[in-house]
Amino acid sequence: MTSADEIVSQIESLVSSAESRDEVLRGAVRLLKQERAHYDWTGIYLLEGDTLVLHYYIGKPTEHTHIPVGRGVCGTAVSERKNQIVGDVTALDNYLACSLETRAEIVVLIRRGDEIYGQIDIDSDRKDAFTAEDESLLSRVSDLLARRF
Ligand code: SME
Repeated sequence: MTSADEIVSQIESLVSSAESRDEVLRGAVRLLKQERAHYDWTGIYLLEGDTLVLHYYIGKPTEHTHIPVGRGVCGTAVSERKNQIVGDVTALDNYLACSLETRAEIVVLIRRGDEIYGQIDIDSDRKDAFTAEDESLLSRVSDLLARRF
């Protein structure tokens, strides 16, 4: 398995060399999806006013392309200004189903200081799929992405 350091280093190169932010965000989603087998749906939402707008993803199509702050796991991350790790989404009330197979979800904010630009959102079909290691990797990636905002 490619190490977290290697993934971070590849994204670091992308952040410093890519011509557009779009290229950076797409490249990051592609790399994460490819390198981690349990990342069944991998996407990035950007915050536009009080709405999260789906920017780019790899996985099954979702109807949740626009999510108000406060709704679902994604909107909660913004309203609480806090990353979210959910081991079993079927136990949640405030959850927006993307696919019936999804069991676990992680949301890591893309932010600099108090400013939130968006988030990396990942779903897994395996219960309890995400650990502190995923949060650490995704936080390092998010910090790099934030440089392009
Ligand atoms: N499950 C998310 C919605 C986004 S989909 O997973 C792609 C939520 O509850 O906010």
